[in-house]
Amino acid sequence: MQGKSILIIGASRGIGAALAQKLQAAGAQVYNASRSAEGLGKNISYDALQDDPKALLAQLPSQLDGLVYCPGSINLRPFHRIKEEQFNQEFELNVMGAVRLLQAALPQLKKAEAGASVVLFSTVAVKLGMPFHSAIAMAKGALEGLTKSLAAEWASHNIRLNAIAPSLTHTDLAERLLNTEAKQESAAKRHPLGRIGQPQDIASLAYYLLDQNSQWMTGQILGLDGGMGNLKV
Ligand SMILES: NC(=O)c1ccc[n+]([C@@H]2O[C@H](COP(=O)([O-])OP(=O)(O)OC[C@H]3O[C@@H](n4cnc5c(N)ncnc54)[C@H](OP(=O)(O)O)[C@@H]3O)[C@@H](O)[C@H]2O)c1
Repeated sequence: MQGKSILIIGASRGIGAALAQKLQAAGAQVYNASRSAEGLGKNISYDALQDDPKALLAQLPSQLDGLVYCPGSINLRPFHRIKEEQFNQEFELNVMGAVRLLQAALPQLKKAEAGASVVLFSTVAVKLGMPFHSAIAMAKGALEGLTKSLAAEWASHNIRLNAIAPSLTHTDLAERLLNTEAKQESAAKRHPLGRIGQPQDIASLAYYLLDQNSQWMTGQILGLDGGMGNLKV
């Protein structure tokens, strides 16, 4: 990772912050673009819902080796109570925020000498139907479609795209689902491996996807979920 330039949207907290730590320790130059702009590496204030990605990218080197889009949501509600506006909000944050950035970043990604890598985040709730997850599963399902179609389209530029689909992971995003011991215990029990994820679990796979060790991998949706998406025990 020595000398690689990696842009992380959302490295101020959670999975993005754990990833930034790993990348920086391996000698990469990390750019953290988020609303609070407080994290490792070079911090740039950026709101994926409002700001112009071109202005962000203009502050970065002309060659970008990796791009990671972390913003996401967990708003669980019964389907009949979700307003149209809320479906649109999920789509804006989880999908269009990444779309706008990727469109603007193409020239810089194309210039990566050893090929660029893009990492997106889905959720286990796309593969495994779960009650109250319709809004997020719809948005992340679209992101999975984008991962595959764009991986095909950009393979000729040697730009790889993969998505990680985690289950419940201990970050601020999941706070409401884990804010009592009882909730933590029952969440752990739902996973075949007997625990929920930690940011480092997910960051390790994201690191691998950015690294040259995964240079033949593209268009994959990788479940990382303590066995939840595939196993019944
Ligand atoms: N945690 C889980 O249980 C879980 C499960 C399945 C999937 N995932 C997915 O994994 C990804 C990472 O999740 P996480 O748990 O690490 O989330 P998190 O703890 O909420 O961190 C999200 C990061 O994105 C930034 N961010 C949020 N909204 C933004 C915006 N509008 N513009 C720019 N930056 C923004 C935040 O920084 P600022 O607040 O400073 O902007 C923060 O650094 C998400 O896509 C999520 O859907 C997570």
